[in-house]
Amino acid sequence: MATRIMGTGSAIPSRIVTNQELEGFLDTSDAWIQERTGIGSRHAATTETTTSLAAKACLKALEDAGKQPEEVDLILAATVSPDCTFPCLACEIQAAIGADHATAYDINAACAGFLFALNSADAYIRCGMYRNALIVGAEVLTKIVDWNDRSTCILFGDGAGAAFVQEAEEGVVDMVQGANGKKGMALYRFEARTNTPFSEVAAAMEETKDSGYLEMNGQEVFRFAVSQVPDSIQKVLERTGWEKSEVDHYILHQANARIIQSIARRLGELEEKFPMNLHQYGNMSSASIPVLLDELNRAGKLKRGEKIILSGFGAGLTYGATAVIW
Ligand code: UT7
Repeated sequence: MATRIMGTGSAIPSRIVTNQELEGFLDTSDAWIQERTGIGSRHAATTETTTSLAAKACLKALEDAGKQPEEVDLILAATVSPDCTFPCLACEIQAAIGADHATAYDINAACAGFLFALNSADAYIRCGMYRNALIVGAEVLTKIVDWNDRSTCILFGDGAGAAFVQEAEEGVVDMVQGANGKKGMALYRFEARTNTPFSEVAAAMEETKDSGYLEMNGQEVFRFAVSQVPDSIQKVLERTGWEKSEVDHYILHQANARIIQSIARRLGELEEKFPMNLHQYGNMSSASIPVLLDELNRAGKLKRGEKIILSGFGAGLTYGATAVIW
């Protein structure tokens, strides 16, 4: 028994924000952003919400799989930028698409969120608790970054990607996943400040000037990614018994082209096996892997039987790699 990806979908806001547009209000340049990150533009939500993007991606994934919303057993939504703290995004999606029979809840594992959702769905399906799941990564990160902070805001964009998975003979083969909470403050965002008659936290946050925006130690996250991701990939390859030469595609979290190139070098693999779309979308956190997966799927670039490694890393710090037969 395994869990197979039967259909994919994605949704991206229509508003494009180019590096040149950022030059208009930030002390930055297209040349700096392209050279340090590989990002050329990102999309920003205007009328779209995390829920509307996620629901659209989910409906497309269901359509691609030839399934109806009422057939969905489980919805797992990965996000760090939901519209509401509660109800969760997955419940909002359930209502929006009419998946009335599905259990629904969220996973917060930041940029590794979609991967963790896939691994969780696989565990449920393998143990026989559910027969299928709709997994989605959706973000409106443009609302949580500080548009005056050139070291973070240039990196992120909005979007959603989804996959419908179900029990099958082959699909997910094995995975590794983990977390290092001790390094959590390398990438964080405090929840909105609470001013109660009792809280001393709000005052303390005021003193330390915590912004309520996403905060990041970019170099620390960079170092974490280029060591932890190759390690996770090596481990999952050992567990599956696959040779690197057998892997057809490495679909990685799209944070920075330099990170992906460095991972390819460390693995001794060809860069052409590492597709990228971050030039167009920037870093969409939990949405980046499923959006790329959907683009490759719809372009006919994934063939049944091909061997794929998915790998994500991000705030937490969380990381993982999953081996999948397409
Ligand atoms: O999903 C996971 C999320 N996070 C990541 O993946 C982030 C991983 N880290 C990175 O991608 C990189 O660390 C960054 C792209 C964020 C930064 O690149 P870097 O090569 O590590 O640059 P840096 O932080 O060392 O900064 C170099 C210089 C600094 O100026 P000085 O001190 O040398 O004068 C920065 O102030 O570049 C400056 N700088 C910028 N200049 C123009 C920082 N941001 C910008 C900018 N435009 N947007």
